[in-house]
Amino acid sequence: MEYAQGFKKQMNKRIHLLLCFLLQVNLVLSFPAIHCQDFSGVSLGTGDLHLFHLVTMAHIIQILLTSSTEENGMDQENTSSEEEVAVLTLYKFLCQCTGSALKEISSGWHLWKNLKAGIMPFLRCSALFFHYLNGVPAPSEMEVSGTNQFEHLCSYLSLPNNLTCLFQENSDIMNTLIESWCSNNEVKRYLEGKRHAISYARESNKLIDLPDDYSCLINQASNFSCPKSGGDKSRAPTLCLVCGTMLCSQSYCCQTELEGEDVGACTAHTYTCGSGVGIFLRVRECQVLFLAGKTKGCFYPPPYLDDYGETDQGLRRGNPLHLCKERFKKIQKLWQQHSITEEIGHAQEANQTLVGIDWQHL
Ligand SMILES: *[C@@H]1O[C@H](CO)[C@@H](O)[C@H](O)[C@H]1NC(C)=O
Ligand SMILES: *[C@@H]1O[C@H](CO)[C@@H](O)[C@H](O)[C@H]1NC(C)=O
Ligand SMILES: *[C@@H]1O[C@H](CO)[C@@H](O)[C@H](O)[C@H]1NC(C)=O
Ligand SMILES: *[C@@H]1O[C@H](CO)[C@@H](O)[C@H](O)[C@H]1NC(C)=O
Repeated sequence: MEYAQGFKKQMNKRIHLLLCFLLQVNLVLSFPAIHCQDFSGVSLGTGDLHLFHLVTMAHIIQILLTSSTEENGMDQENTSSEEEVAVLTLYKFLCQCTGSALKEISSGWHLWKNLKAGIMPFLRCSALFFHYLNGVPAPSEMEVSGTNQFEHLCSYLSLPNNLTCLFQENSDIMNTLIESWCSNNEVKRYLEGKRHAISYARESNKLIDLPDDYSCLINQASNFSCPKSGGDKSRAPTLCLVCGTMLCSQSYCCQTELEGEDVGACTAHTYTCGSGVGIFLRVRECQVLFLAGKTKGCFYPPPYLDDYGETDQGLRRGNPLHLCKERFKKIQKLWQQHSITEEIGHAQEANQTLVGIDWQHL
């Protein structure tokens, strides 16, 4: 349940970034129908540049309105740069426009840091979009992920590094626009705490943290008793790697009915935690289980290796096992890229035995 809420929240965040980005794509693609424009070999044509600046400013306001800046002052430098002063001024203007419904933040340093982090996903999407639209190659520095990514992106997109400059160019028009954005009903409802909003910067979803030593998981599993049969030990304790719940798999006691069919605890769990897709660790077998829907599944090598760098599926050799971060990252990536179903498809093509297994009973 908790995960489902987390998932919804994440989706909301993506949708908001996406909406801003889609708005921009629509504007840019439909604009030439109204105006003729020339392309002069920069990554953005003149019309595109104005539209891009406008959407970027809207996104900046969005980020500042939802800033949940923790002011702890720990790593704050005392000297304020021009950018920090400018973003603080902008924030104060927002406070004024929203009738002081915004949290008081007095650190330009924190605001600027938050703004830079929050706008990066939008800048990355925009750079890709304009790259494919106008075919201007990205400078090679941009391909290495380093600390200067923000500056490189700004330069590729013809944005000033101190983003708040955008607002100063046409300050009369912009102030009117900001005022109208701030008096939007949904914005007001958010400020009054009547609806949720996305806050930037966003964090990506992660699978649960696994212990380094596999024996921790074995202990945890041997301590786990079936929640339905009054303290009996579960024969196939299975850990959901998405939310961390231990389940009693492969057993009649925990079967439930789902859409008129009897399914095991794992399949039932995937429908409340992951929209039918699941990633589990079968603890006694030391084996990862992928499930998709009621009929598809496969086994996958576990992220635990012995000192010789080998997995021990079925725990037959019994050597001490330790977490292999690389392997776990690979599983995490499959999940983040929505590739679990595809992975199951490949596995079933390669091994017909997998097609015959009643996955829904796990
Ligand atoms: C930090 O700035 C304040 C004024 O804003 C000043 O009074 C204080 O001495 C400065 N601290 C340091 C360590 O420079
Ligand atoms: C913003 O940066 C530009 C150069 O990137 C500089 O010329 C300008 O003075 C700066 N303005 C502010 C208000 O910081
Ligand atoms: C096992 O369960 C008991 C009580 O239910 C708890 O005190 C103990 O910490 C648990 N041990 C492990 C390894 O989780
Ligand atoms: C096919 O999958 C089954 C079930 O996991 C396994 O026992 C068997 O070894 C696999 N066969 C091959 C050729 O990988």
